[in-house]
Amino acid sequence: MKFTRSKGLRGEVCVPGDKSISHRSVMLGSIARGDTRIRHYLQGADCLSTISCFRKMGISIRQEGDTVLVRGRGLKGLKAPDGVLDCGNSGTTTRLISGILAAQNFDAVLTGDDSIKRRPMNRIIVPLTLMGAHIRSLTGNGCAPLEIMGGPLQGIHYTSKVASAQVKSAVLLAGLYADGETSVTEPYLSRNHSEIMLSHFGAHVSSEGTTAVIRPAGELEGRDIQVPGDISSAAYFICAGLMVPNSEILIRKVGVNPTRDGILRVCRDMGGDITLLNRQSGSGEPTADLLVRSSCLHGTTIEGAVIPTLIDELPMIAAMACMAEGETVIKDAAELKVKESNRLEVMVRCLTSMGADVTETEDGMIIRGGAPLCGAFIDSRLDHRIAMTFAVTGLCADGETEIGGAECVNISYPGFYRDLENLNR
Ligand code: S3P
Repeated sequence: MKFTRSKGLRGEVCVPGDKSISHRSVMLGSIARGDTRIRHYLQGADCLSTISCFRKMGISIRQEGDTVLVRGRGLKGLKAPDGVLDCGNSGTTTRLISGILAAQNFDAVLTGDDSIKRRPMNRIIVPLTLMGAHIRSLTGNGCAPLEIMGGPLQGIHYTSKVASAQVKSAVLLAGLYADGETSVTEPYLSRNHSEIMLSHFGAHVSSEGTTAVIRPAGELEGRDIQVPGDISSAAYFICAGLMVPNSEILIRKVGVNPTRDGILRVCRDMGGDITLLNRQSGSGEPTADLLVRSSCLHGTTIEGAVIPTLIDELPMIAAMACMAEGETVIKDAAELKVKESNRLEVMVRCLTSMGADVTETEDGMIIRGGAPLCGAFIDSRLDHRIAMTFAVTGLCADGETEIGGAECVNISYPGFYRDLENLNR
């Protein structure tokens, strides 16, 4: 896939459903009683991995376009899977399902692709083991494949070293089945979709500051869910609209939950012209249409509590900072090293290859904006966010930018290149 300098991006786009919310809706729908109807479910490979895992555990899940119908069988209604559960490239599937499997009366093995087999799983193995779970990394290196021997659990009060919604959610899901109260405290508040959706399904969840608490309750009840557009997918059009001169883009029905909207705050901080229109709230998840116009950007510092609210958008923000005047400093973002690829290392290497002035630091990077970018071959390392970031960056560079492994965008945004092309004419 190749990209050259754009003369301006104009028009409207409707991004696919939120990845985090899609995963959670099938998981909770499967362990609730009765039917759950999910509209605008993300048809990306990660969310299809979640569907296939629950089908393997006896749940009937029907897909009609981007609507998904889950026939839940209650908290204890899953069946032992015949064979290994394949989570593909999805960290969310692997870590959240672990919390559910830890409490079942059967054993299961979770695996995934080469990237998943390198990602740290001790962060969920440790708290789930404290709850009484039996989980083993079969390779002994703290990564998948994981063998999970389900059984009775007790509540814990866990303080996590990382602000990770995957860790928090795994523990809360296990807490649904535990004796007594379970809580998770994190250094900064991570995305709270699990807390919102668990409450919506009838669980007893509360939050105070960076602590989420779940208390044992009866069964969950199936629900109707409308999945908002994914702000992490919208991020490519937000930044493209700001970076590419002569652009005006309207992005419809994007989820703007405050635990996910850091990109809006940072873009505005950098001088970005973004207007929120038509604000709404369904199932506790706010949405808005985003109107984005080309802007003169300047550098900023991105650190601390805002980091978890834009963690997946940092590659795109780093590339955008190359177009901004002055220096942008990204700190407290060491988590980028353990995503689908080492995104700190990959971003610095690829931006440098295009002529940008970027330095990697221990937990982030420093970008000195203004150096002219030229096209290059970008090896995406099969990381969807890297591929999409450089498709957009290629629109601001001289010459041709070619993305290697471009099809990996199917993980979170199957129609990405088509949607980008429709705006670029
Ligand atoms: C996610 C949480 C984040 C994010 C990932 C999705 C989730 O990961 O990067 O894409 O759905 O809970 P961490 O929990 O590892 O920060």
